[in-house]
Amino acid sequence: MSKRFYITTAIDYVNGQPHLGHAYEKIIADVIARARRSLGEEVFFLTGLDEHGQKVQQAAIAEKKSPQAYCDELAADWKNFAKKLELANDDFVRTTEPRHKEFVQTTLSKLNDAGQFYRKTYAGFYSTKEETFLTEKDRLPDGTFDPTYGEVVELKEDNYYFKLGAHQQWLIDYIEANPLFIQPDYRRNEVLGFLKNNTLEDLCISRPAARLNWGIPLPFDKNFVTYVWFDALVNYISIPNAHQKLELWPANVHVIGKDILKFHAVYWPIMLKAMNLPLPKQILVHGWWQKDGAKISKSTGNIVDPIAVIDEWGLDAFRFYVLRELDIGPDGNWTDAGFRSRYSAELANGLGNLVNRSLSMLKRYRNGIVPAKSDELAADAAKAADETRALLKQNQLQAALQSIWSLVNRANKYVDETAPFKLAKDPAQVKRLDEVLYNLVETCRVLAILLNPFLPGTSAKIFAQLGLKETSDKFSQAVWGKLNSGHQIGEPAPLFPRKDI
Ligand code: MSP
Repeated sequence: MSKRFYITTAIDYVNGQPHLGHAYEKIIADVIARARRSLGEEVFFLTGLDEHGQKVQQAAIAEKKSPQAYCDELAADWKNFAKKLELANDDFVRTTEPRHKEFVQTTLSKLNDAGQFYRKTYAGFYSTKEETFLTEKDRLPDGTFDPTYGEVVELKEDNYYFKLGAHQQWLIDYIEANPLFIQPDYRRNEVLGFLKNNTLEDLCISRPAARLNWGIPLPFDKNFVTYVWFDALVNYISIPNAHQKLELWPANVHVIGKDILKFHAVYWPIMLKAMNLPLPKQILVHGWWQKDGAKISKSTGNIVDPIAVIDEWGLDAFRFYVLRELDIGPDGNWTDAGFRSRYSAELANGLGNLVNRSLSMLKRYRNGIVPAKSDELAADAAKAADETRALLKQNQLQAALQSIWSLVNRANKYVDETAPFKLAKDPAQVKRLDEVLYNLVETCRVLAILLNPFLPGTSAKIFAQLGLKETSDKFSQAVWGKLNSGHQIGEPAPLFPRKDI
């Protein structure tokens, strides 16, 4: 059996409700997973929750619940959220599950036996909020620590450390030799800059159980629990291990946000090297969303609630906006006005109008029966399909949508140019009207297939309205002329109802 295309998202801290940023990352991964399936590959798509550590323990205490009960309640909400986004994921990991915990402990034992860890006493500064040790280098010019670290306390304690330094040059060489390992390029350069200008300090992989007990106990010293990042990153292989019959590792793509790049591009590769495992093929780094030019924040109320947007506008409108508005890489800015404007211009008046008028005219002028084949728009459709295929393989989702919309726009222009409503009035133009109608409905069919990874619900609706029994998730069917003459289409209905704004 050939290796599956294995794609993951970051696993979210279960210390609150999902927001726009979490939704965005999952949708990116979902589109890539669906695209690969459409292109004929076998795919495994993993997402899930990061449930241990200080943040979760504190959130549970604040609600006067045990951490496990707190996680169980919230995990249900997050699983529902994955359903709400219609993610095509194959598994959903929770790091409190035995299958994960046991694997983390086995891994820790192996690394310990191999002499990768050592114990030492640390005296210095610690940020509880970021669960990280700080050094003099982390001080701002005025001597304080960055407010993002929250309260910084001084402590003195024993811990276990993982030897990172020995692998620094190896990692630099690897990243230089593999340009696609970290994408986009400017994120890759950031990591290279960091590695070349700093000496890697060893990574503290434990926390004393006396201070933090919500974690996986170190198998070789029960007075400590595992540092949450060491636990969390291992999910990417603990779950493949639980599906031993499938060949999954190495991952093809880890989709993550820019804030957790160091963990994925520095710590994780070195952990894998120490485990004698191959590295993931690619770390795909997206930017951060703001709303109305300001940080998304629960405390200031500057939030976008994905569930509310989906309930009001539909899932595909939400998926479309985040993917079309923001390329994978830079930061983005959500505005309600921008959302409405794309909804009305590109979805309702663009795609929706094209499909609705094409099918309605076929219904009105030809009783919904597909006329003889014609290929006036075949070259435009082939161009969009070729471009989309190539762009999907490079995870260029925004550019793929632009290419698909060039076909939407071309076909809408074709309606204006050929004016089928005029042709219908002229008995001498029967054949010409047949040609125009075929080109329009066939373009709608091809569009449905190209759109499938992005807007799966809309894609299925177009196929249903076309009266096609098969599913729209096979890219190989996006070739011109598959719609047969004599085929009876179904009932047209608006895909994106216009809203009075
Ligand atoms: N638990 C860690 C990840 C462990 S992966 C082994 C974590 N969780 S998180 O919940 O804080 O973030 C999860 C993902 O959501 C990260 O990739 C992060 O970049 C992303 N986002 C969180 N807020 C975001 C925005 N405002 N915009 C876009 N993505 C954002 O980090």
